[in-house]
Amino acid sequence: MKIAPSILASDFSRLADELKDIEKGGADYVHLDVMDGRFVPNLTFGVPVIQSLRPCTKLPFDVHLMTYHPEAYLEGLEAAGAHMVSFHVEAVPHLDRMIHNIKDRGIKAGIALNPGTPLASIEQVLSLLDFVLIMSVNPGFGGQKFIPYTLDKIAALSAMIKEKGLSLSIEVDGGVNRDNAPLLKKAGAQILVAGSSVFGKEDRAQAIRDLKV
Ligand code: DX5
Ligand code: ZN
Repeated sequence: MKIAPSILASDFSRLADELKDIEKGGADYVHLDVMDGRFVPNLTFGVPVIQSLRPCTKLPFDVHLMTYHPEAYLEGLEAAGAHMVSFHVEAVPHLDRMIHNIKDRGIKAGIALNPGTPLASIEQVLSLLDFVLIMSVNPGFGGQKFIPYTLDKIAALSAMIKEKGLSLSIEVDGGVNRDNAPLLKKAGAQILVAGSSVFGKEDRAQAIRDLKV
């Protein structure tokens, strides 16, 4: 299991130190939640902050765009050396074009699905994707409760990937903790995003180990 701590739950006044702490603690990626205050009812940070964080850690950047017009951020994210970028299916009318726009920049492309958004909305483009981000809370805020019905969706996606003979990864985001991590693994998750269950703990290394089921 790979762990991607979300800095949304970290101390924004000490971001460089927070990144060092999770890198030392065994994190596999850093999850960066970009919110535009429109697609989701909250506002976080954008490309300039991500660019200034790049020299602070060797960890690969996993950027989650909870925004309308996610294509507008790609040039800056490419310059910031983003490793993975995901966007929401409702924010983009041309999924195929957007996926190629990300991949042509040498960035891994993912689509994020809200809890209520069906898998069928991405079935035709599944073979183009490097990963799918299954939201297990309604996006916009950290520290929310895991929505249990998303486990079935993860299992169904996992079956769909196998049936099609594909090899993309399943990432899960929202309310992930040490209690549901084993269930998420069983359902087919390969990358767990964790905000409060890592940054809310004093010992980040232990918190990351607890999630590495
Ligand atoms: C929610 C964000 C998540 C968030 C997860 O809208 O996409 O990445 O930071 O936070 P926790 O793990 O606290 O639910
Ligand atoms: Zn996220």
